[in-house]
Amino acid sequence: MIKQMISYDSSNMLRSAVGIYGADKSVFRKNAVRLNKARKELEKEWKTEQQGWLGCPDSTEDIKAIKAAVKKCAGFKTCLVLGIGGSDLGARAAYQALKPKNSAKNLIFAGANTDPDELAGVLDKLDLKTTLVDIISKSGNTIEPMATFLIVRELMMKRLGKENFASQIIATTDRSSGALRELADKEGYLTLSVPENIGGRFSVLTPVGLFPLAFAGIDISKMLAGAKDFREGFFREKPENNPAAQFALLQYLADTERRQNIHVLMPYAQALSGMSSWYRQIWAESLGKKHSVDGETVHVGSTPIAALGATDQHSQIQLYNEGPNNKTVTFIEIGKFAHDYKIPLSAKMIKPLAYVAGKTLQQIIKAERQATAASLADSKRPNSTIHIPEISAGTIGGLFMFFEIATALAGKLYGINPYDQPGVEAGKQAMEKILKREP
Ligand code: PA5
Repeated sequence: MIKQMISYDSSNMLRSAVGIYGADKSVFRKNAVRLNKARKELEKEWKTEQQGWLGCPDSTEDIKAIKAAVKKCAGFKTCLVLGIGGSDLGARAAYQALKPKNSAKNLIFAGANTDPDELAGVLDKLDLKTTLVDIISKSGNTIEPMATFLIVRELMMKRLGKENFASQIIATTDRSSGALRELADKEGYLTLSVPENIGGRFSVLTPVGLFPLAFAGIDISKMLAGAKDFREGFFREKPENNPAAQFALLQYLADTERRQNIHVLMPYAQALSGMSSWYRQIWAESLGKKHSVDGETVHVGSTPIAALGATDQHSQIQLYNEGPNNKTVTFIEIGKFAHDYKIPLSAKMIKPLAYVAGKTLQQIIKAERQATAASLADSKRPNSTIHIPEISAGTIGGLFMFFEIATALAGKLYGINPYDQPGVEAGKQAMEKILKREP
């Protein structure tokens, strides 16, 4: 078991660090009953199978199906992954973080936009003969990936022949409903199912995220073990002591008690920039809601921002340090990177840089995060740090579970349903109307 993989330092979110812009340290004790109730609700949703995402690490059937599909598709070099939102961002994030070195397989992502120039760039790179296409859409009706898929499918028919093209397609969709399921059954694609009780943005640890990752040679069993380990910690410890619960509570209170309704996630690792994009979606789409579960009009949710350390120190930090004090910043710190480089001692000759001579890039990036956290705290800007020991399949699986739990818990604290997205549906319907009007 991977113990204590993820820890959370919330000290700069507290009054002792940032005065009136922070929470009192008693908030964990004071909200213990509330957090416990929220945790029980999550557990009930899971055990009664209303929600399946907490159970993903135990889903041996899905894993078997994924591994069998990977075996069947072993002859392909590239997998073109078509999906959007929850059917896209998780696999992208994990692939960016965990892409194996010197792998013979690679993933290419498309279908998350209807930008023809982007598609042209992707198609230029593809050798359709050695490419598997994974079309992922739970509903099977989403315009961006499905429009892209229909174009790619036509090309495949032309280049590979009507008899052969279907053997190069895998469809990841609902077990029984939707246009994609119908097409897949009619044309005989290999299929994987998205569990009915898991919504798109909570589906990274289902075949949606796991098939392409396993195809690319990523150890999905380790990812699931990391997720399971984090989940077990959450149900074992007092919730007020759990990192995800502390994170959810502090973000919720910052928003509702101090109007700090902008929340920045800033990993100090290039490989985790995709994790920020995935997180931005799960937080925004789950928590930005008009109605409470009781039907009251509430208009809640804090705005997530994806940032990247150290790069955005030279882009956004000026605003966060001196602009309106309406934000919280969460860093992700990596204990040990896979590589390191020493700054040559010759740097001593360059006066303004002499102090880094002989230091390593790891030392520098860590100092940058520490310094940013300290300078924000000096300016009374609340911030906190999620610490992971390394970037590995286990820690990435753990981080997915961390943010899923945090988001669902925050949904309970806000009193809204974190699993629906009526605001997205409205936009989809409006787009359909426009396109139906046009010839
Ligand atoms: O979280 C969600 O439910 C959404 O982001 C969906 O994942 C997204 O709209 C894509 O939906 P589908 O998988 O049905 O194509």
